[in-house]
Amino acid sequence: MTADTAKPSRFAFPDSFLWGSATSAYQIEGSPLADGAGMSNWHRFAHTPGRVRDGDTGDLACDHYRRWREDVALMRALGMNAYRFSISWSRVLPQGRGTLNAQGLAFYDRLVDALLEHDVNPMITLYHWDLPAALEDRGGWLNPDIAHWFADYAQILFRKFDDRVRLWATLNEPWVVTDGGHLHGVLAPGHRSLFEPPIAAHNLLRAHGAAVQAYRAEGRHEIGIVVNLEPKYAASDSEADIAATARAEAYMNRQFLDPVFLGRYPDEMAEIFGEAWRRWPAQDFETINQSIDFVGINYYTRAVTKHDARAWPERASRVPQPRATHTETQWEVYPQGLTDVLEWVAERYGNPPVYITENGAAFYDPPVAPEDGIDDPLRMAYLRDHLRAAHAALERGVDLRGYFVWSLLDNFEWAHGFSKRFGIVHVDYATEKRTPKASARFYSKVIATRGAALEMA
Ligand code: BGC
Repeated sequence: MTADTAKPSRFAFPDSFLWGSATSAYQIEGSPLADGAGMSNWHRFAHTPGRVRDGDTGDLACDHYRRWREDVALMRALGMNAYRFSISWSRVLPQGRGTLNAQGLAFYDRLVDALLEHDVNPMITLYHWDLPAALEDRGGWLNPDIAHWFADYAQILFRKFDDRVRLWATLNEPWVVTDGGHLHGVLAPGHRSLFEPPIAAHNLLRAHGAAVQAYRAEGRHEIGIVVNLEPKYAASDSEADIAATARAEAYMNRQFLDPVFLGRYPDEMAEIFGEAWRRWPAQDFETINQSIDFVGINYYTRAVTKHDARAWPERASRVPQPRATHTETQWEVYPQGLTDVLEWVAERYGNPPVYITENGAAFYDPPVAPEDGIDDPLRMAYLRDHLRAAHAALERGVDLRGYFVWSLLDNFEWAHGFSKRFGIVHVDYATEKRTPKASARFYSKVIATRGAALEMA
């Protein structure tokens, strides 16, 4: 090596690393009932007055259903080599089961082909919160039959796409489905109940396991689950705060991964749900405890945690961190938490391959992009610091294989409607014009230099 040979960068990522972005069907597609699609629970929820801020719906969203070509070209132009998106169950099976809607399937077929033509690896999420309304009418995640409804739906997609798609995720953030949808009622189906969350959780897990079994029969590539993890740090060393932190961690971080990897729920669950907690048959855990090929981790923030008798169900709450930067969704920016949570998964579950399947931030951007573009320094710093934190985990031996920024586009942020912008590409909702923000150009540079640009920023 001569003296002037360039030093390898402090932030070098492996050649095989996937650099992508993530979206979900209901949040970007629009045209929810087009070409024979059935109604989803989110369509119904968003059209129920009072459920979504400003009465926003996904009727048009980013109009990705018609502008997908442009969006794929955008990914390519930014240099991404991967894209995580979800399939709308009710486009493919309008009633959730039974008759197939070929036109719905054809939409995703064209999308997959276009991605591959542009050298972008697809990662398909089978379920990102939009359930066929017809299945919700039969109890949705509360009906034990949903495990085989889901596996049947999954099988159709495996047969259609596994020749071209290498990465599959069963569920996106099952914890949010139970906590937001069945405990607090702020997300579809909008139920407020202490008894429903453990049942919905268990059926989500059974559905996940049944889909993995179906994949082993049909598929040749990789399948995993996507969870949202938020490291919990005790606010003090008091016994009460330490116990509260363990409950909060069990509830959010271990409730789904322990059954998948260890074949049992965390002990704290019975204490958390009290009489609402159930004992399930041992054979359910055989279904759930399938070996998976990767874990997808969605990371946004941490929680400094204290005992709080009024905070149900886990009797733990978050201690505000007034000196920290917060995003528009009031989440503390805490990059170190990403390294910590990646190391925690590696230690607890035997260092499985992992992808960061979502990471990103909502910060204010104007509704119309100014002529000279959009400068979003806070989002750029967020990405830089979290990518550095991801790199630190790699250096400590975590088997991290890729990073997907949330999100490619500003989009329908569930109950917040269009009021929160997470995109690295700005969307003007009046014209549907896409404008890459400074954060997109930054991410593109990081990708082109395989991480080296993280040093300079
Ligand atoms: C979800 C996304 C959501 C994002 C930001 C995740 O919980 O998977 O659908 O838009 O976080 O809130």
